[in-house]
Amino acid sequence: MSSHNTNKVLVTGVAGFLGSNLLKKLIDNGHQVIGIDNLSMGRIENIQTYLDHPNFNFIEADIVDPGTLENLNHSFDVITHLAAFKIPRYGNAVDTLTINAKGTENILDYAKENQCKCVLASTSDVYGMSPDIPFKEDGNCLIGNSQVPRWAYAVSKLFDEHLALAYMEDYGFPVVLLRFFGSYGPHQHLTWWGGPQSVFIDCILRDQEIPIHGDGSQTRTFTFVDDTVEGIYQSIIRPEANGEIFNIGANQEITILELAQLLKRISGQSNEANIKLIPYDRISKGRKYQDVMRRVPDTTKASNILGFTAKVGLEEGMKRTFEWQKSQTKEALQ
Ligand SMILES: NC(=O)c1ccc[n+]([C@@H]2O[C@H](COP(=O)([O-])OP(=O)(O)OC[C@H]3O[C@@H](n4cnc5c(N)ncnc54)[C@H](O)[C@@H]3O)[C@@H](O)[C@H]2O)c1
Repeated sequence: MSSHNTNKVLVTGVAGFLGSNLLKKLIDNGHQVIGIDNLSMGRIENIQTYLDHPNFNFIEADIVDPGTLENLNHSFDVITHLAAFKIPRYGNAVDTLTINAKGTENILDYAKENQCKCVLASTSDVYGMSPDIPFKEDGNCLIGNSQVPRWAYAVSKLFDEHLALAYMEDYGFPVVLLRFFGSYGPHQHLTWWGGPQSVFIDCILRDQEIPIHGDGSQTRTFTFVDDTVEGIYQSIIRPEANGEIFNIGANQEITILELAQLLKRISGQSNEANIKLIPYDRISKGRKYQDVMRRVPDTTKASNILGFTAKVGLEEGMKRTFEWQKSQTKEALQ
């Protein structure tokens, strides 16, 4: 069993949204970090500031390739596994299933050999269409029809969760499973990949219609990235997190339609949000689609064991995110 030393951390997906924000937190707290990313969805700009830092080593490589980990000449205290392919909204299910299954298996094999703690990124999507609001970590997961490709993501992450817990039981190293609820903030991807707020901000900046899938009454809770990173960090450093599953999210529920209106207000533009409702069957190009109509976490467990509570309010976080995205988009708009 690994010791409680958490100084040396391997972060997969380090150039992505959460990975690059976590990197800053780890470096600021004196950790030594090795980061892996194949730059398929992440950007080198996200980690540029740290490329020459003495406590950071970046390796551009694919975690699905077993050679990537075999060639690592390091031992670690903790692996934080964030690399994944996210939701296949209307396609790409093969990438999602392959990267999330094979990549995670490779990481767990590596953690097994090194007997080090492994913190794994899961998702709120595993609760699927469960009616048990707010979602509790020991509650049921209600996944829809296999002919709906979007469930491939939830299923791949549920597979990861089960594999991690089975490895922990059979091979004796600790794992922590984190179910993130819609994180947003600086370094978020500027397309759908980054979440609805990315697209809505982009449309407002470009004075375009805001596309909303369905009727906009579906709800989410959005979590500012500093809060998400704090949840990850506490899971890394606290031994009492070992073996547990945690919801990492904020609790303020908002409909997608209200989110679009909030962002329009934040933009300072005086006109009404120009919203276009798009029926699901129009976007899914003939594929079946099912949405999650309410998604709210119960964060009691994260609060009790990790001392985690989201601190940044929705309006404040969205203001900061709007300003950041505006600065990123400025050149494109000139
Ligand atoms: N951001 C959220 O709100 C959210 C919500 C739920 C779950 N998650 C999970 O958290 C993790 C991080 O999410 P994110 O928002 O930072 O996503 P992201 O796409 O910004 O980051 C993932 C990173 O992994 C890299 N990557 C992908 N496949 C790889 C491979 N085969 N080898 C090496 N690198 C690879 C990408 O280039 C990217 O930089 C993911 O596992 C995701 O499923 C995130």
